[in-house]
Amino acid sequence: MAETTAIPIAPEVTLLRGHAAPTGPLVAAIGRIAAQAPFRQLSTPGGGTMSVAMTNCGPWGWHSDRRGYRYVELDPLTGARWPPMPAPFARLAREAAALGGFPGFEPDACLVNRYVPGAQMGAHRDWDELDKRFPIVSVSIGLPAAFLWYGATRRGRPLVTLVEDGDVVVWGGGARAGFHGVRKLQAGEHPATGALRYNLTFRRAK
Ligand code: SIN
Ligand code: FE2
Repeated sequence: MAETTAIPIAPEVTLLRGHAAPTGPLVAAIGRIAAQAPFRQLSTPGGGTMSVAMTNCGPWGWHSDRRGYRYVELDPLTGARWPPMPAPFARLAREAAALGGFPGFEPDACLVNRYVPGAQMGAHRDWDELDKRFPIVSVSIGLPAAFLWYGATRRGRPLVTLVEDGDVVVWGGGARAGFHGVRKLQAGEHPATGALRYNLTFRRAK
């Protein structure tokens, strides 16, 4: 395991700077996942369309439509199972969770987010998982972004953390219900991803 500096963002919210670097192999794996389960912009229960495009790998995939948020075993777009979670993805999530203070994390879901400039994610919490004792592991790839940590309520001024290529954020325990988001992506060019940012969010769904 590479040396990693663990930087506290808030209680039980930890930034592992550069822990997922180099990200080239992750980007290549995302390409293989998207060839089977294409990126798509999901609808929200309220009828909007998300600016972030998503796909999944692993046994369970996060999905949103007019009926709500949930985990599904089959990709609604193709009817097929989600592509398997690559072993290096699961290993990365397990190691990062342990460094963040949450040993024993075995993800069964990996949401892959793709941001183009202008895409953003409003304040929300990851709350569709069965057992909230497991943490969330969030890996940033490509263009930098401002990760917003609101904490217990979605109101108020968030803590702003610049997340760059290879950075990992882990939260759990008392912070598991924390509200968070991502500020509108600024245009740029990154050697690993070109004009894009990706994020891998690892979860234990079931
Ligand atoms: C998310 O909350 O699902 C995305 C976080 C990120 O893109 O950094
Ligand atoms: Fe989230």
